[in-house]
This record gives sequence, C-alpha cells and structure tokens, in this order.
Amino acid sequence: MITGHLLSAADLSKDEALNLLATAKELAAITDGPNKKLPTLRGKTVVNLFFEDSTRTRISFETAAKRLSADVINFSAKGSSVSKGESLKDTAQTLQAMGADAVVIRHGSSGAAKRLADTQWIQAAVINAGDGTHEHPTQALLDAFTIKQHLRAKESDLSGVKVLIVGDILHSRVARSNILLLSKLGAEIVLVAPPTLLPVGIDKWPVKISYDLDSEIGECDVVMMLRIQLERMADSFFPTEREYSRRYGLNSARLAKLKKNSIVMHPGPMNRGLEISADSADDLKSVIVDQVKNGVAVRMAVLYELLGGAPIGDSK
Ligand code: CP
Repeated sequence: MITGHLLSAADLSKDEALNLLATAKELAAITDGPNKKLPTLRGKTVVNLFFEDSTRTRISFETAAKRLSADVINFSAKGSSVSKGESLKDTAQTLQAMGADAVVIRHGSSGAAKRLADTQWIQAAVINAGDGTHEHPTQALLDAFTIKQHLRAKESDLSGVKVLIVGDILHSRVARSNILLLSKLGAEIVLVAPPTLLPVGIDKWPVKISYDLDSEIGECDVVMMLRIQLERMADSFFPTEREYSRRYGLNSARLAKLKKNSIVMHPGPMNRGLEISADSADDLKSVIVDQVKNGVAVRMAVLYELLGGAPIGDSK
C-alpha cells in the first residue's frame, strides 16, 4: 500500500509497484464487466490541475476518479486566473478551500509536483502527472502493466524482459520514470538515440546505450518509441526530420525484424511519420491503444491506494 504522494517512480519499492499493478489488474477485471463504477472513494474530491496540455493523462485520471465514485474538479491553466498571473501557491490554496483530497498535477517545470507536496499550501495527496522533463510515474506504471499483460511474463516481475527505449531521451519524463520502474522490476533496458538526445550523466543510469537501432531491434521484447518533443527544442538536435526518421524511426522494414512476440509501445501523442510510421503504429504488434486503456485501471489503483479507499469488493 502506498501512502502520502506519488511524485517519482523512485518513490515505489519493487513490492509496492507490484502490489499496485496487482490492484490495477483486479480493478480492470471489475470495470471490464457490466458495472464499471465502484463506491470506494465516495465523498472524496480529486482535482486535476493541468498547467500543460494533455489528452490521455487528464482524461484517464478523470475516468479513474469517477469510476471510484470520487467527485472530480478539472482545472486547466488556460482560461483560469493563472493567465492573470496567479501563483501556484494561490491556486493550491484555492483548491484547499474546495476540499481537495488528491491533486493530480501536470506542470511544465520539473519539480513542480514536489514543490506542491513539500509546502503546506494544501493538505492533499499529490500525484505527479508529468513535470517538465523530469518524471511521469503513472505512465511508467501503465507501461509496466501493459508489458506484463502482453508478454505474460512467467515471473511476477519483468526479469528476462528486454526493453528498447528509442528516441528523445533527453526531454522525456516518460523515459526517466520507465528506466527507474522497469529496471526495479528486473527488465533489461537499452536506450537507442543520437548522442545529442541523451542527457549528461547517462553512463550512471542502469541502462545500456546504443546508437544503432537496426542492430538492437531483433533482440528486444519491447520497443518503446518516444515522441520527438519539438516544443522543448530550442536548438537543432538532428540534421533534418527525414534523417532522424531514417536512422531512428520505426518503419515496416524494422518492424519485420522484431521477434514474433515482441510488442511496439508509444506513450503518445505520436508524431506519425517522424519517430513512428503510420503502419507501425497501427500494426498488430502495436499495443498503443492498450496502453491508453490500461492507464485508467492503473490510475484507479493509485487513487485507491493514496486515498485509502474502502475494500474493492465492498459495494455498499
Ligand atoms: N502519455 C501522455 O502523457 O499523454 P498526454 O500528454 O496526452 O497526457
């Protein structure tokens, strides 16, 4: 059972992560049935506090909270008093006044979720839904859930599973959280990227580095393609998009090199035709839509644990 906040994948021990994934599996089985709604968080209030754009994360947290019968307040910085200069502190204190029990925060600044959790501005569980280029822990949890689901790993953890993470590692909070979580669960991780898109200090991470996708792709169980984050690139990190795509993009020729049971993942949103071709994204090996679906069950599990919900089987 996790308590407090979920700010980083590093906050979770291996047992805590595996327990969360087991709870998510139980919740997925229930909500796949005719009665999708559980009363377990009745009376609790979950605030989605989004200072950056989101489709999947915001919608799935909202769906997850509603399926657990919590009240949901959606706050988007666009159209709010943030555009008039209101600070994070004043925004947090407003949410405190609304009686928030959990705040799901996405922010463009690395460390914003921790700042909210560390201050006494608000007495609520804080869940990091993506902070700058730092972390996105619930994305890593849903990715681990999806890998376990598709590879039917014999072990309860991810021992023996080889994961390639390909592309813009430098700007990717998804990569950071996945490296922390998947390595903790026993997966072997290989990062494939041009040197310009790898962060300083990467040699100290529990990963192997490669610059050659073609030499790696036939050996992996999972290929996780990352979005090229053009909006975070002030400089030129590769000569042209065409050149990047030729060297590091997933296309049908590379797809054909994958092992029979290997899967293709992408956290979304995708740049179709840049890091992943349309036929690769839509191939039978692609589990990208399952990632989105599993996000709901995983986020239900996180809210359930952090807010101390009533037992899952208790429908009174
Ligand atoms: N994967 C992810 O975080 O997607 P959104 O930006 O749409 O939430």
